Amino acid sequence: MRAAFASRIDETDPLSALTVGERPEPAPAGDDWVTVEVRASSLNHHDLWSLRGVGLAEKQLPMILGCDAAGIAPDGREVVVYPVVPTPADPRGLSILSEHHQGTLADRVAVPAANLIPKPAALTFEDVACLPTAWLTAYRMLTSRGRVAEADAVLVQGAGGGVATAAVVLAAAMGKRVYATSRDPGKRERIAALGATAVEPGARLPERVGVVIETVGEATFDHSLKCAGFGARIVVSGATAGHLPRVNLRRVFAMSLEILGTSMGTPDELAALLDLCVESGVRPVVDSVFGFGEAAAAFARLASGVAFGKIVLDHTR
Ligand SMILES: NC(=O)c1ccc[n+]([C@@H]2O[C@H](COP(=O)([O-])OP(=O)(O)OC[C@H]3O[C@@H](n4cnc5c(N)ncnc54)[C@H](OP(=O)(O)O)[C@@H]3O)[C@@H](O)[C@H]2O)c1
Repeated sequence: MRAAFASRIDETDPLSALTVGERPEPAPAGDDWVTVEVRASSLNHHDLWSLRGVGLAEKQLPMILGCDAAGIAPDGREVVVYPVVPTPADPRGLSILSEHHQGTLADRVAVPAANLIPKPAALTFEDVACLPTAWLTAYRMLTSRGRVAEADAVLVQGAGGGVATAAVVLAAAMGKRVYATSRDPGKRERIAALGATAVEPGARLPERVGVVIETVGEATFDHSLKCAGFGARIVVSGATAGHLPRVNLRRVFAMSLEILGTSMGTPDELAALLDLCVESGVRPVVDSVFGFGEAAAAFARLASGVAFGKIVLDHTR
């Protein structure tokens, strides 16, 4: 079958480690696993980390990339794939598709039957393929971790990315005042159109916020601390620009800040996110849709940093 996979690891030139070609059919890892015919998938920064060897070892290669998929279950149902799977070999007891188990960027993917969530008819395959990683992570960052219901205002750092655009749209849909930073003036214009006040990285905000959404790390963390109001939550799910920021601890204790880590979300949270999209009319921000045969170009766009929102692969072409 067709697949986009890591054929080797390259820390400095991840795109050169990507191969788009043929791989064997996926092997179910247990009796309760099923094979899904993938109709659409989406790329995540996670796929670039994998090609760089973060969370993926040489001995696991070749590894089909991809965490997100929507498609057709063996019984004909239209489904979304929840990407976190039980993995006894991993210290966490679980892993995300493409870490230990072959990923979603292929004609077919094997997953536990319990990981299939019905696709709402109101959402397209392309819409739902954006939700299971970036949008689910943003949803959990705002809700269970960030307790956004207690906040009036939210700051989203590096707002052009997949997680960050999701956080902007979701926080705005939840009725919050949203501030967002981006390095790129063009992206700041597009963020403003999503309902946020877009500012340059490091800019002073007109107020302190109750929740900060952090996926950038070293380049923005000091600003996140400065913008956080008394008792605010700084929720961290990534560190694209480096994971060792200097942290002003005086500000952390004086302002009673909570710095919270999080990864992905639960199946119930994914179901709640799907409901929210159906009920509120919110739809994922899609940067671009590539045919599966153009997967290498899609990866190049992700790596370039120019994308605004999610990059989707249409597996029917
Ligand atoms: N823990 C989890 O469960 C989980 C889930 C999803 C993602 N993540 C992590 O979260 C991060 C974002 O993922 P994604 O898929 O949304 O990535 P993405 O679509 O590639 O977006 C990355 C964003 O980071 C910002 N950025 C990158 N380098 C920067 C720098 N030097 N200074 C300031 N901003 C910078 C950019 O914002 P601007 O261009 O707008 O400035 C860019 O839009 C990744 O590190 C990923 O691994 C973690």
